[in-house]
Amino acid sequence: MTRFILNGQKVNSSMPEDTPLLWVLRDGQELTGTKFGCGMGLCGACTVHVDGIAVKSCSTPVSAVADKHVTTIEQVGRNRVGAAVQAAWQKLDVVQCGYCQSGQIMAATALLAKTPRPSDADIDAAMAGNLCRCATYVRIRAAIHEAAKNLAGRGTA
Ligand code: FES
Ligand code: FES
Repeated sequence: MTRFILNGQKVNSSMPEDTPLLWVLRDGQELTGTKFGCGMGLCGACTVHVDGIAVKSCSTPVSAVADKHVTTIEQVGRNRVGAAVQAAWQKLDVVQCGYCQSGQIMAATALLAKTPRPSDADIDAAMAGNLCRCATYVRIRAAIHEAAKNLAGRGTA
């Protein structure tokens, strides 16, 4: 049994302790916004936050999040930074097929929470583990800058 806090609520997982967090979220908690891509920590589709840090849930055993706060795409828009990221994503129409975008938004939100005015190099470094087969990288970078501007009160929206 693993207890943790999921999107602000205490939950208990009865899945084996070595079960990847991704499957606890998708199958155990029915939160399917977090996506399975590679299952090997290489694509970032499964990115969630653990105590505010972007983590690949496919390669994180559920035991590693015991007593920690896990946030998923279903909840990230409830915090100020996540809401700004999602608004920028919509404004700049970032999404193409969408499959990678939960992970992209989670990674971008973790970046802006830590680095409110990221440079292009900061963005490239923080987002390097999140692949997009539709190659939306230019719009992702622009949307992160847009969210940063809006969070600083200098947005163009
Ligand atoms: S599914 Fe987790 S990194 Fe690809
Ligand atoms: S929008 Fe299609 S994989 Fe990223």
